[in-house]
Amino acid sequence: MVILAIETSCDDTCVAIVKTQGQRQLCFKILSNITSSQVKIHRKYGGVYPTLARREHEKNLVAVLIKAFEKAGLPRNSKSQTLNPKQIQNPKSKTDLRLKAKKIKTLEEIFERHKTLLKETEKFFTKYQEPKIDIVAVTVGPGLEPCLWTGVNFAKALSFWWNLPIIPVNHIEAHILVNFLELPTAHYQLSTTLFPAICLVVSGGHTQLILMRNFGKYKIIGETRDDAAGECFDKTARVLGLPYPGGPAIAAEAAKCRNIKISKYQIKLPRPMIYSKDYDFSFSGLKTAVLYDFKKRSLKTRKSKKYIREMAAEIQQAINDVLIKKTIKAARDFRAKTVILGGGVAANDELRKQLNHKLKTINHKLNFFAPPKNLCTDNAAMIAVTAFFHKNNKKPWQKIKAKANLRIS
Ligand code: KG4
Ligand code: ZN
Repeated sequence: MVILAIETSCDDTCVAIVKTQGQRQLCFKILSNITSSQVKIHRKYGGVYPTLARREHEKNLVAVLIKAFEKAGLPRNSKSQTLNPKQIQNPKSKTDLRLKAKKIKTLEEIFERHKTLLKETEKFFTKYQEPKIDIVAVTVGPGLEPCLWTGVNFAKALSFWWNLPIIPVNHIEAHILVNFLELPTAHYQLSTTLFPAICLVVSGGHTQLILMRNFGKYKIIGETRDDAAGECFDKTARVLGLPYPGGPAIAAEAAKCRNIKISKYQIKLPRPMIYSKDYDFSFSGLKTAVLYDFKKRSLKTRKSKKYIREMAAEIQQAINDVLIKKTIKAARDFRAKTVILGGGVAANDELRKQLNHKLKTINHKLNFFAPPKNLCTDNAAMIAVTAFFHKNNKKPWQKIKAKANLRIS
């Protein structure tokens, strides 16, 4: 099965082509996984600007799709069921003309609010023949509404033109299931050895602890009451004058701070809700504490490398302490056999290292999965893998809708 996946829930325009191989020993092969990042555009705002992000998705989607096809080296399907592109360009008969008009009209309806994308996609269809793919997968939520709709409408257009079913994908579930991309099937067929699992999904928009009883069976047991962990990294980085996205910038500064114990500035940030009895989080107070500390320092200190590094190390540790404590508590309380990490913040080396270490000390038999670092942040390969787990949930394109507040349970 070849899956073409599209992800545009935030500021990355992503297209991937993933092939599943084998029946009993199933494995995934990423033929291409292309991400066009908008980081430079959003950097000056210190965060993602939804209407700007939507406009960039519109501009980028076709180019990213072509790149994904080229990288995958997909053979072109000559026995295309759909209208031959040459007929569209140079219709010879009246039937051709009528067919063309009908198809273009539907395309115009799908892209009613995306004029740039309509033009680009029309051009693309006249140039490219139908590739050998079986399914189109697309993120339908959660995410930024205008961004989600751009990807969803693009997926609908491809599905309509090539007569392919669509599988709608939940972005949060994709951050979890990307962990199964590189595991041999035998591992996850034995679900009794894996479940129940506790999933910690930490990204720019979400911080959730999810109880996973099986593939497709989830329950949110805790989540942030205000800012997400990634958002906290991004906002505190901005206070310190570090670039967006803040997570990697703070991690890089923290790594330069060799020994936080011999601290010059004695920064002590709170660990919000660390001892609360539930599995919820709160990170907005942490951001305020950083701002408060920063403002009380002299101008010279605010600019000093040592202060920035010490502060970055303390921010990272404060966020990680809370994430780790709550995940361990959930793993214990639910007698988890596996702990699964996912989302952009899962790329944080200290979080991966410290969580793994703590889990092994409570139970050395516990499985711990964290995605390869390049698959932690948003990408379309994770959407393809998730679509495979929902391969029976094929829908006609008319039925697909974006849902900004989609929940996993
Ligand atoms: O999952 P993601 O790519 O997008 C959303 O779904 O939100 O996550 C992006 C978030 C950003 O807030 C970014 O600062 C954070 O992930 N992030 C990191 C690291 N790399 C990305 N946070 C901490 N450490 C990192 N190495
Ligand atoms: Zn994400």
